[in-house]
Amino acid sequence: MHQDISEILFSEEHIKAKVQELGKQITEDFQGKHLLLLGTLKGAVPFIADLARAIDMPLELDYMAISSYGNSTQSSGIVRILKDLEGPIDNKHILIIEDIIDSGLTLSYLVDVIRRRNPLSLSICTLLYKERKRMKEVPVNYIGFTIPDKFVVGYGLDYAQYYRNLPYVGILKPSVYEGESEPEQQHASPAE
Ligand code: PRP
Ligand code: MN
Ligand code: MG
Repeated sequence: MHQDISEILFSEEHIKAKVQELGKQITEDFQGKHLLLLGTLKGAVPFIADLARAIDMPLELDYMAISSYGNSTQSSGIVRILKDLEGPIDNKHILIIEDIIDSGLTLSYLVDVIRRRNPLSLSICTLLYKERKRMKEVPVNYIGFTIPDKFVVGYGLDYAQYYRNLPYVGILKPSVYEGESEPEQQHASPAE
């Protein structure tokens, strides 16, 4: 286990089993429909890559880059679109794929943007769903795991862009990000 991780919440095998389960359910639910999986860059990349291969039907993949955390453990509250979808979606069923729903700000912003483009339907799938009071509530159709209100990394989730390549999801030791707003602490790299 990485030295900056205090606890592994979900192992690679555990995640794999859950992804298979979600893929099976989604395959049943969207059979015969024109489905577009909309992945959010960058956090959802490992999840959407594995989930897409667990869905046994034709589908499209596209991505939007939206970001609200920057290099902090707190959402900035300002969501920015850094990359948009390639084309119109009014003839498609959209399934948003998120790695985590935390404050709910990213998702509620994304849902507003997508609804205005009139997809045939809009559903949401997240690997992780944090148990906390949300700034914005959005109904979620598929949830992999519900997690405690701790800062987690791995399997796509980052702190200051690191840890995305860990094959498991784990709790980041608070000592890694304590004093994150103090410039003299900023050079302490997560790899140290
Ligand atoms: C993270 C995470 C989700 C979002 C969830 O993305 O990947 O997309 O925040 O948080 P929220 O519910 O509080 O809005 P981030 O902005 O860090 O960008 P990233 O995916 O590139 O890491
Ligand atoms: Mn994200
Ligand atoms: Mg992030």
